[in-house]
Formats: sequence, structure tokens, C-alpha cells
Amino acid sequence: MHEAHAVPVICLDGPSGSGKGTVGRMLARRLGWHFLDSGALYRLVAVAARQAGIDLGAADELAGLAYALDVAFSGDEQGRERIELAGRDVTAAVRAETTGADASRVAAYPAVREALLARQQASRQAPGLIADGRDMGTVVFPDAPLKIFLIASAEERARRRHKQLMEHGIDASIPSLIKEIEGRDRQDRERRIAPLKPAPDALTIDSTGRLPEHLCEEIIALGRDRKLC
Ligand code: DC
Repeated sequence: MHEAHAVPVICLDGPSGSGKGTVGRMLARRLGWHFLDSGALYRLVAVAARQAGIDLGAADELAGLAYALDVAFSGDEQGRERIELAGRDVTAAVRAETTGADASRVAAYPAVREALLARQQASRQAPGLIADGRDMGTVVFPDAPLKIFLIASAEERARRRHKQLMEHGIDASIPSLIKEIEGRDRQDRERRIAPLKPAPDALTIDSTGRLPEHLCEEIIALGRDRKLC
């Protein structure tokens, strides 16, 4: 137990589009550390529920699905991510906007969060982990030695989301994305369990107008100060 906890974790929490995913993946690559995309797990529960015809109101059945998720994360030759559910490529479905909204609903059930907890904690492997989510610093890795809470303006987040969606061949308008992002933030912030909020010991960084490379440098410098990397 103590061994496992000696593995450093850098938590990157914040609302969608704040840059966590891009900065987190860059950090993991730079440091040669593992990367946990916890949002993808909630999205996968929503996708698996749709495939199995399970209603998004059926908390216990959703928790069962979450425990049993047979998922594999990889990348193709172009460095594009690939997510498989029981051997089937579900990358586009996982990244769809509607899935984000469904994931936010699914994520409000304590039983679902509990079902995904051990899986998330098991990704804490040497030499280190970059953990991307909403409750990495508050619930999943409360003892993490470095916790960052990334924020950005709603407009910038919508623009980033738009770019991301276009890369996945998905069309969306910026105004509708701003509305969607603000709605989902509200739902994530106001839920009773593990709401989106900074841990008391988290450092808040505003990524508006900043390049991922610079944010990455800043976080690595903080990690060096703490002798984590
Ligand atoms: O980061 P994302 O957009 O892929 O996350 C999708 C949803 O999953 C998000 O709206 C809230 C939920 N989520 C969560 O509740 N806790 C996490 N650690 C990560 C995501």
C-alpha cells in the first residue's frame, strides 16, 4: 500500500475545455508518465448503457456496467486516440457532444462513481500518473503531491471544443457549444457528490490565451519544486 502511494500523481481538474486533456497528455508524454482520462470512463458508461439499452435513470444497472467495463485505450499511427469497448472501436461515440451530456448525468450517481473508483486508483503506476478529471484532487487521489485546477473563459473553452470536435469529424456551432458547456458545468458543479471544485490544496491556473506548451512548462516547474520529476 505504501509502495503504491509513493508513486507521484499530478491531478489536473477543471471544467471541460479548460485544457486539461491537451496539457495532461503533453505532460504525460514529456515525463514518460501514465495518463488517466477519467472523463472517458464516465463517457464509456454512457456509451455502454446506450448499447445495452439501459436507461440513464437506472443507477444500479449503470453501476454494474461501470464495474464491468471492458475498455482499452490506445493510439493509431497518426497519434489519434482509439478507445475500444469490448473490442469494438467506440472513439467517435465517446467523444460526441451528446455523450458528454449523458456522461455528466451518469456521473451524478454515487454508485457509478464508486464503481469507477478502484479502476481509477489502479492507474497510479510508476513512474507517475497525470490524472485528468473533476475530482482527482478531491476524491480519487486526495494525497496527490501536486494538484492543479485549470480554468478558462467559456468562449475560449467553446472554441477549443469546436476544434477538437472538428478533428473528430463532428460539426457543432460555437454559440450552441457555449450553452452546452455552461449547462454541463452547472450540473457538474452543483451535484451533491464529488462536485467540480478545487481541492483546498490545489493551485488554480487560468489557461485563457495560453499555449499548452507554456502551461506544461509551468506545471513541470511546479513538479520539480516538489521533487516529483
Ligand atoms: O472531461 P469530460 O468532458 O470527458 O467528462 C465528461 C463528464 O464526466 C463530465 O461532464 C463530468 C463527468 N466527470 C466526472 O464527473 N468526474 C470526472 N473525474 C471526470 C468526468
